[in-house]
Amino acid sequence: MTSIADLKEHLGEEVTFTAWLTDKSGKGKLQFLKLRDGSGFVQATVFKADVSEEVFEAARRLVQEQSLSVTGIVRADERAPGGVELSVQSLAPVGLPEGEYPITPKEHGIEFLMDHRHLWLRHRRPWAILRVRDCVERAIGAFFHEQGFVRFDSPFFTSNAGEDTTELFEIDLFGEDKAYLSQTGQLHAEAGALAFGKVYTFGPTFRAEKSKTRRHLLEFWMIEPEVAPSTHVQNMELQEAMVSFIVRRVLAECEAELALLGRDTSKLAGAAEGNYPRVTYTDALTIIRNHIEAGDLPPNVQPDVRPVEWGDDLGAPHETILGYHFDRPVLIEKYPAAVKAFYMQPDPENPALALCDDMIAPEGYGEIIGGSERIHDYALLKSRIEAQGLPLDAFEWYLDLRRFGSVPHAGYGMGLERVIAWLCGIDHIREAIPFPRMLTRMSP
Ligand code: 4AD
Ligand code: MG
Repeated sequence: MTSIADLKEHLGEEVTFTAWLTDKSGKGKLQFLKLRDGSGFVQATVFKADVSEEVFEAARRLVQEQSLSVTGIVRADERAPGGVELSVQSLAPVGLPEGEYPITPKEHGIEFLMDHRHLWLRHRRPWAILRVRDCVERAIGAFFHEQGFVRFDSPFFTSNAGEDTTELFEIDLFGEDKAYLSQTGQLHAEAGALAFGKVYTFGPTFRAEKSKTRRHLLEFWMIEPEVAPSTHVQNMELQEAMVSFIVRRVLAECEAELALLGRDTSKLAGAAEGNYPRVTYTDALTIIRNHIEAGDLPPNVQPDVRPVEWGDDLGAPHETILGYHFDRPVLIEKYPAAVKAFYMQPDPENPALALCDDMIAPEGYGEIIGGSERIHDYALLKSRIEAQGLPLDAFEWYLDLRRFGSVPHAGYGMGLERVIAWLCGIDHIREAIPFPRMLTRMSP
């Protein structure tokens, strides 16, 4: 059976397909049916003189989101989004409606739409965004496959905190030992890197984020490459190669989706090209301070924003300022070790700094990647685990990676939804995943 996406290959031909009605207009002798079938959208015209009385009547009675089987002739139409239109010859309803479809063509608030996410998915905007997501997921697989990485799936249940322990979801394991939902696949990916050289994990991760922001989900997908041996600088090179590859793929394959979203794709040109600037944390503080002192702030940053004191972590407004300062993603490297995770290798030139980086997206989308070189020295890693008050026995297996054949190695994690939000130009990451999980949303 033909699909709407393929119609342009059937100009002048008769086709039959199953579709859903998204909207309807016209009166008298002519009706315009807006149809979708998952692959795309098309307008179909029903002209009274061309069809039987029953078919015209059936078309008149169709309601929004009713499924139907339609047969018609494909005609070229330059004004139509897909370049084609359908002249209907016959149609028949498939499913009969039970009550009124809740999402009408009028404006609805975001909470109403999210309450009906299972139906809202059928509409143009989610359709476009989630197709971009699919493209990004495929691009990630293609990139790492081309680079000789092995996909290495980390467990969702773990006994370790990999990041901030305050954000762990604890699982009731029948009163036995503690288990958590994984907040990162990194620790297991490190075991993978020492076994396979180059690996990446790709799956959901869980964080008990109590803050309600437009950048945080309780469940988000993370892509985490890990390479052994590797260094901080090689790690940053890999990040740039991967992100620019993804952006090029999306620009090449998702032109229609980005157009539907009204995305200004010229803003992605620098990200597609590469040459991402690298700035130290210390220099980034100066850039931020200069913008604040000059009053040169992006529109969504409050004028009373304070500069960062050396030693403090960057906040969302600071990342926004940095994102506006550059026309492409920027890598902020060498943060104070004290604000970063326990496993990060100290900078040999200044052990108060970590050999790490965050990639900040342009246009205020904030941190999309966090990565680092890992501590490879057994004694140092053990002392860091103890200093953090983490239970040593849960980390014995992780320490084995340093006991036996340890090498400098590095990796990073990219938040999938944040990248999609940036590429699509949408202001909240809840729309970048089919069913977002947040403090205020567990359903549908
Ligand atoms: O910076 P994070 O916490 O780094 C790690 O988890 C490392 N273990 C990764 C590694 O080195 N293998 O998280 C990585 C990325 C962030 O840059 C952000 O893009 C995303 O994950 N992220 C979130 N995305 C959505 N909702 C949340 N609550 C997120 N928390 C982090
Ligand atoms: Mg981070």
